[in-house]
Amino acid sequence: MGTYAKLARRAVETDSPVMVQIQEIFRGVKDAVSLAQGVVYWKPPEKALEKVKEIVDEPFTSRYGGDEGLPALREALTRKLQQENKLYKSSVMVTAGANQAFVNLVLTLCDAGDSVVMFAPYYFNSYMSFQMTGITNILVGPGNPKTLQPDADWLERVLSNKPIPKLVTVVNPGNPSGTYIPEPLLKRISDLCKSAGSWLVVDNTYEYFMYDGLKHSCIEGDHIINIFSFSKAYGMMGWRVGYIAYPAEAEGLGDQLLKVQDNIPICAPIISQRLALYSLEIGPEWVKDQVKDLVKNRRILLEALSPLGEGAVKGGEGAIYLWAKLPDKYQDDDFEVVRWLAKRHGVVVIPGSASGGPGYVRISFGGLKEADCEFAALRLRKGLEELVRDGMVQ
Ligand SMILES: Cc1ncc(COP(=O)(O)O)c(C=O)c1O
Repeated sequence: MGTYAKLARRAVETDSPVMVQIQEIFRGVKDAVSLAQGVVYWKPPEKALEKVKEIVDEPFTSRYGGDEGLPALREALTRKLQQENKLYKSSVMVTAGANQAFVNLVLTLCDAGDSVVMFAPYYFNSYMSFQMTGITNILVGPGNPKTLQPDADWLERVLSNKPIPKLVTVVNPGNPSGTYIPEPLLKRISDLCKSAGSWLVVDNTYEYFMYDGLKHSCIEGDHIINIFSFSKAYGMMGWRVGYIAYPAEAEGLGDQLLKVQDNIPICAPIISQRLALYSLEIGPEWVKDQVKDLVKNRRILLEALSPLGEGAVKGGEGAIYLWAKLPDKYQDDDFEVVRWLAKRHGVVVIPGSASGGPGYVRISFGGLKEADCEFAALRLRKGLEELVRDGMVQ
């Protein structure tokens, strides 16, 4: 009693981070294998790492840099945005990862009490960023039952009601589903936001993670902000570099973003920004080369999920995730199933309820090399066969 009186309701009433809970489960099981964390198994390009070693001792590495990012990196990113993403009118701010980019945007664009829109299943950290900044009116829209793509008809209805949501956010391709948003649908969502006067924030963390010939695309507009990350593409999770591409013509936006940036990281770590620059110089072909092998992992895990029956697995056209429906009787027990799979079968996945999708689990196919993935898949398959046949036997 009394403990919470000293803490902010904003924090206390924010969901607990699912990854922290999952890591606890993982640590509690001897020799468990993880299909849980959204990571890739590769390191940054060797040549880029070599170059970074040479600047460890340089005085500038230990100083603060400009809030918005190193000029050389921002220039390289501006070129990348034009050439690869067809974004010609965007300014760049480098952040300590895409998650921090999202928090910057929420603090810059939304007031406590505003309403915002996300689509289920949603990225849990974005949801938490809203909660902890006092934006508790989070309208969660449905996805198409077959494709999981955001339901634009629902959005049209919601945006025609008062109060008009301040911001709509989508992840393309998605976390936790791996569903991608085709350009015509992205355009429709954007047009709806524009006429309603809402911001559209698109998280492109997995821009290079597309399979089966599908193409990721970005769109531009003075109400659209795109977020990117070096974490997965260049295996730079722990280096913490992401960036925001925001409309240069949106009056005052850059100034307000700078206030937030100056109070959180000041600047993204200088050595990490250098590594990002050296990695960019190596280029997207290097990334595509790493990503192309993930289709094998995806196939192996799709096969392991087959005990759940036809039509149970959705998504996976992009990103590093499959989204799988548990048998109906576990609709409210996905966390229990995750604990059981870990304890009895030594394999860890993410419960869907953390992303607004109770009764589902998220499986990541990015974090393990093929042979380890085979091993994890065997455990997963055995666990799911038992679950379907006998239930959560102890
Ligand atoms: C959709 C999405 N956005 C952002 C992030 C976080 O990226 P970063 O490491 O750049 O903060 C992740 C990581 O899993 C993600 O899946």
